Amino acid sequence: MTTIFKNIKELIQVREENISKVSGKEMNILPTIKNAFLVIEKDRIINFGSMDDMPEISSATFVDCTGKMVFPSWCDSHTHIVYAGNREQEFVDRINGLTYEEIANRGGGILNSAKKLQETSEEEIYQQSAKRLKEIISLGTGAVEIKSGYGLTVEAELKMLQVIKKLKENFTIPIKATFLGAHAFPKEYKTNEEAYIDLIINEMLPKVASENLAEFIDVFCESGYFTVKQAERIIHAGKKYGLQPKIHVNQFTSIGGLEAGVRNNALSVDHLEIMTLHDITVLKNSNTMPVALPSCSYFLSIPYTPARKIIDTELPLALATDYNPGSTPSGNMNFVVATACIKMKMTPEESINAATINGAYAMNLSKEVGSITKGKKANFFITKEIPSYGFLPYSFGTNVIETVYVNGQKM
Ligand code: NIG
Ligand code: FE
Repeated sequence: MTTIFKNIKELIQVREENISKVSGKEMNILPTIKNAFLVIEKDRIINFGSMDDMPEISSATFVDCTGKMVFPSWCDSHTHIVYAGNREQEFVDRINGLTYEEIANRGGGILNSAKKLQETSEEEIYQQSAKRLKEIISLGTGAVEIKSGYGLTVEAELKMLQVIKKLKENFTIPIKATFLGAHAFPKEYKTNEEAYIDLIINEMLPKVASENLAEFIDVFCESGYFTVKQAERIIHAGKKYGLQPKIHVNQFTSIGGLEAGVRNNALSVDHLEIMTLHDITVLKNSNTMPVALPSCSYFLSIPYTPARKIIDTELPLALATDYNPGSTPSGNMNFVVATACIKMKMTPEESINAATINGAYAMNLSKEVGSITKGKKANFFITKEIPSYGFLPYSFGTNVIETVYVNGQKM
């Protein structure tokens, strides 16, 4: 049951167990051990250190990692991987000049995915979503958050959350579920928005809570979607059921959603492409993790989250994919880490911290994953032979991952 990984060229992100996130200048420090060993037993990391100090264990399986590096798995704290079908026609429409907003206004966007999801069986949605989950695990993701929000009816929102529950049962990586009934207003509620909010609060939430289907509550707080006032009403209702907020804010406009998130002790505020100085100030002295989604900026050609301003203000920052059919049809955390370096001027150290320990924090999972720490889950990946850890974001578009371990098992 004991496996020893030896001759590791560099063991990345080695942390004491009291570290739950890193902020500001600390983000530029990535603790590693060169020429290292790592010992796992069953599903846990039990020891690691320099090869010079490797203990004698006779009844162990050895894995030689000469020339290769070991990273803790990526922690993807923001995804929508449960969905039905795809939206490549909208992709072409945008190439031909329509904006994301224009597509949404004519019934495309989230409502297009909701229609597809409502018409698709739970089993079929499960199959499509499980395939995406397997794909992201093979790309190094070892913990993930998944949102509802493409149902937009009581029945379809519960169907999505049931799919997430089944993924939790059938996969060994930690999965956190977020209820995002407030993703968009269904067409029939466009002139009576309060009625849809009543439906979320009075019909959806009690069922989500009584069946224990979500840990977090999310709202798409944005011009044309949910106002700050509406978002706060939903967040307050969610909190009564013990759901902590993790919310979509500042994707296209800064309307006060970020401040509302912080005011309500959100675990994270996500997107942040459009940030005022005030938004950054509000994050100071809070426990809320800002989360950037650079593949969404890439795919929609919208601004990137101002990572330098955030980190240089001594704040933390996490990176996630936002994997979804409309704004980010990709769940590749390696691309996210590379894009953060290339487009957001984050250093490899900052990007790797943001995609591991800070991502774990943004899911309330930093006791379990996010670093190479004794007692944490043995979720990590072994690279191919690479010259340095910075080679991973540098060689964007190349998969440098050779082997993935989840719960101490080779995938
Ligand atoms: O995070 N911004 C809101 N929701 C998703 C995209 C939704 C969609 O286009 O399907 C996001 O980008
Ligand atoms: Fe999202």
